[in-house]
Amino acid sequence: MSILAYADADALGRVLSVDTATVIVRIDDVPKLRSLQVNRLVVLQSSLAGQHLIGIVQKITRTAIEEKAEVADVESSELVHPEVNLVRVTLIGTLIDQVGAKSNVFRRTLETVPEIDANCFALEGDKLTRFMQVISAVSGDGHRLSLGVYTLDPAAEAFVNGNKLFQRHAVVVGSTGSGKSWTTARLLEQIAQLDNANAIVFDIHGEYGSLKGDGFHHLRVAGPADIEAHRSIADGVLHLPYWLLSYEALVSMFVDRSDQNAPNQAMVMSRAIVQAKTDYLTKGGHADVLANFTIDSPVPFAIDAVLLALEALDVEMVPGSGGREKQGDFHGKLSRLIQRLESKRGDRRLGFLFPGTTATQDYGWLDGLVAALLAGRKAKGDKGGVKIIDFSEVPSDILPLIVSMVARLAFSVQQWLPSGARHPVALFCDEAHLYIPENASSGAAENSIAVFERIAKEGRKYGVGLVVISQRPAEVNRTVVSQCNNLIAMRLTNGEDQAVVRRLLPDSLGGFGDLLPVLDTGEALVVGDAILLPTRIRIATPTNEPLSGTIDFWDRWADAKASSDLGQAIDSWRRQTVVK
Ligand SMILES: Nc1ncnc2c1ncn2[C@@H]1O[C@H](COP(=O)(O)OP(=O)(O)O)[C@@H](O)[C@H]1O
Ligand SMILES: [Mg+2]
Repeated sequence: MSILAYADADALGRVLSVDTATVIVRIDDVPKLRSLQVNRLVVLQSSLAGQHLIGIVQKITRTAIEEKAEVADVESSELVHPEVNLVRVTLIGTLIDQVGAKSNVFRRTLETVPEIDANCFALEGDKLTRFMQVISAVSGDGHRLSLGVYTLDPAAEAFVNGNKLFQRHAVVVGSTGSGKSWTTARLLEQIAQLDNANAIVFDIHGEYGSLKGDGFHHLRVAGPADIEAHRSIADGVLHLPYWLLSYEALVSMFVDRSDQNAPNQAMVMSRAIVQAKTDYLTKGGHADVLANFTIDSPVPFAIDAVLLALEALDVEMVPGSGGREKQGDFHGKLSRLIQRLESKRGDRRLGFLFPGTTATQDYGWLDGLVAALLAGRKAKGDKGGVKIIDFSEVPSDILPLIVSMVARLAFSVQQWLPSGARHPVALFCDEAHLYIPENASSGAAENSIAVFERIAKEGRKYGVGLVVISQRPAEVNRTVVSQCNNLIAMRLTNGEDQAVVRRLLPDSLGGFGDLLPVLDTGEALVVGDAILLPTRIRIATPTNEPLSGTIDFWDRWADAKASSDLGQAIDSWRRQTVVK
């Protein structure tokens, strides 16, 4: 039974002309015409039985016939109508009643075009709801991801296919205040309800701390106060020791690229790190690892040993000619590297990288971290499968290094799992322009871009999905964005950003770009293989709203009692810890 069973009498009008994928429909019934709007869906009778063509209304015109010379195909007998109402429709796909054992299959292909005089019907109400469910391809009893409702017909709930959305990556874009964080929260809340959900959220501003429920596990990168209080992963506090950084990441952190000795410093550092890792493995009796590890292997090492080795080389004297001593190859060339290393190690804000405790140096410590980051929720009572990591205390210059360290960790673990044992994980990258930039301005950014490009290109194979969220799509790495097959575009006012989003739209839907600046807050244009049918969707509000960092200037200025303790701020600044 077709979900699009219409009676001829329901027709809005008839097809007047057909041109590949564009159809002109003539509507004589004025009340019916009034109910029609641009961007609404219509159904056209196909020349094949059991098929219906689906189109989007592009343009509606109402023209007095006397002035309308170009409407030549209007027969003189129809001149009793003083006006002709024409609707231009772009065909976007075909709904087939039966394909093999499957009923109601939607395809983005057009095997036929409508014939002249074919009926055109409005697609709305129950029919639209049922049609939207077909579109999401998971209609029936599967897990459907509900975004909200279809803007032009609030009776129709809009679903996306939760498999496809994460398999082929997604981007969520929109100017600040357009509703990205709320949309993200809406997605996360539904993911969190699944028994074995597995997602990591890079929460850069600590906005998602308000999401509640068993399905969430809140973690934060240790700030100075956490270090002082010796909090650990059991308290939801993450330490991300330096030895988890890749060699390139370590170099970008400690070696100043503009230093003329930079290549020497990087080389000496690599030798010292390999030596320190070798010592660590030898002492621990890990002969099997010792034989095969690389500089990038996640093996702890003593940063102090590296520092000592560098210091020795920096002042080294070697035997020269005539029994006199001369300066070693690296004499004086490592001073700035040593200085940078020491200052970073002593920086209180970087306590999560250089923990004072020895726990993170334990060989088995990584197991606990990986379990916290990648475990799904296997049983009720276990920590949630949606891990929200608050990065708000990480200094912005090294944010790309730290976010990409976690992303690389997740990706590597997935890669090293046997294919049958991989449990898919989605990485939600909020404020992605901050750490996956289009223009790398530092070694840290370059490192991060490399990690995320790799995940964007190869993640699908290993069950790692990316959700890239940004207010500045033009400033997010192009390669990463172009690998995203699903687009959730919210209101976007900047021209450069609009241009990037237009390029993500399929050609036939280029006109959707015009909608970007006029979308309402909380409204999105959703295009991609998770949805099949490009639609404008009003995103439903999440149960728990993300925390907005917005301060109401006027209200606060108008508040008679408003006060702030400036002395306390200075105290906190000096101590690098928020003094309460
Ligand atoms: N789906 C929605 N429905 C209704 N209001 C919304 C919706 N999404 C966002 N808003 C409103 O817009 C504000 C900004 O949303 P937010 O998601 O923080 O924007 P962004 O992350 O894009 O800067 C919210 O505080 C809320 O008032
Ligand atoms: Mg936001």
